[in-house]
Amino acid sequence: MSKKENSLKILKSIKSAKKYLMELDKPKVLIPTMGALHDGHLSLIEIAKKLNIHTIVSIFINPIQFNDKKDLEKYPRTLIQDIQKLKALNVDTLFAPNVENIYDKNFQTSISVKNLQKNLCGTNRPGHFDGMATIVLKLFNIIKPDYAIFGKKDFQQLEIIKRMCLDLNLNIKIIEGKIIREKSGLAMSSRNSLLTKNNLILAPKIYEGLKLVKKSFTSSNKFESQSVIKKLRDFYLKNGLKKIDYIEIVDKETLVKTKKIKKGDTIAVAIKLGKIRLIDNLQF
Ligand code: PAF
Repeated sequence: MSKKENSLKILKSIKSAKKYLMELDKPKVLIPTMGALHDGHLSLIEIAKKLNIHTIVSIFINPIQFNDKKDLEKYPRTLIQDIQKLKALNVDTLFAPNVENIYDKNFQTSISVKNLQKNLCGTNRPGHFDGMATIVLKLFNIIKPDYAIFGKKDFQQLEIIKRMCLDLNLNIKIIEGKIIREKSGLAMSSRNSLLTKNNLILAPKIYEGLKLVKKSFTSSNKFESQSVIKKLRDFYLKNGLKKIDYIEIVDKETLVKTKKIKKGDTIAVAIKLGKIRLIDNLQF
C-alpha cells in the first residue's frame, strides 16, 4: 500500500469530527452514504476529488429512514472493505459514527419536505424521506461542507435535499452524479448484492423497459403518460417482473405526475425482486 493510501482520517464521533474539521479550516465536500460502497459511490468520489478540496465521505446506516425493520437488518454492512476503497481513492476523511452517537435517547426532531414526497417512493415508504432529510441536515450541521454530492438514481431524494437547502437557506452547493450502471444496464445499488442469482438475471429488464418506452416516446410521439406507463407495465409483467411498486412519470422538479409527457419529464419505477426493492429512472 502506498504512503498516500494510508492517510484516510477516520472520525467516529460528532465531537471528534467537529474538532478536527474546525481546526482543519479548509473548504470541504461531503458525500453522504450508507456504506456498501460500489462504483456508483466511487463515481461521486471522483467528482469530489476534481474539486481539489478536502473530501469527506460519511458512512452511516440511518435507522430512521427505514420504514421496514427487516430492510434495516439486512442492509449490507461492509465497513472494512469500504475503508480500503476510500484509501485507494485517497479520500481525506471518513465520518462513521454509531447510532447512539447520532441519535441520543431523547431525539425527537424531524425535517419534512412536504410536497416532494407525495409521489413515487413517498407513497409506499412512509417516513422514509423525513428520516433521510433529518440525517442529511444533521450531517451538514456536523461537517459544514461547502459542497455535497448525491447520485441521480435516488432522484427524489436529490430533489428533496435541493429543496431543503433552499428552504432552510443552507449555504451548500449540491452536485448531482449521474446513474452508474452495470454492463447489463442494471443501476448500481448497495441492495444489488442482496439479489439471488435468478433475480440478478431479471433485474436488468428494469432499465431495458425504461429505454424501450423512451425510444417509443421520441419515435412515435406518444405523449399520454398513461399509455406509456401501461406499455412499461406490460413489458415488465411479460418479463417476469411481477411485483411493481410503482411506475410514474413526473415533472423533474415538482415531482408532480404529468398527464402528457414533455421533454425533461422523468419516468421512475420501483420494483421488488424477491424481498429486494430496486429503483431506477430515466429522463425523456
Ligand atoms: O442515499 C443514501 O445512501 C442515504 O439516503 C443518505 C443520503 C446517505 C442518507 O442516509
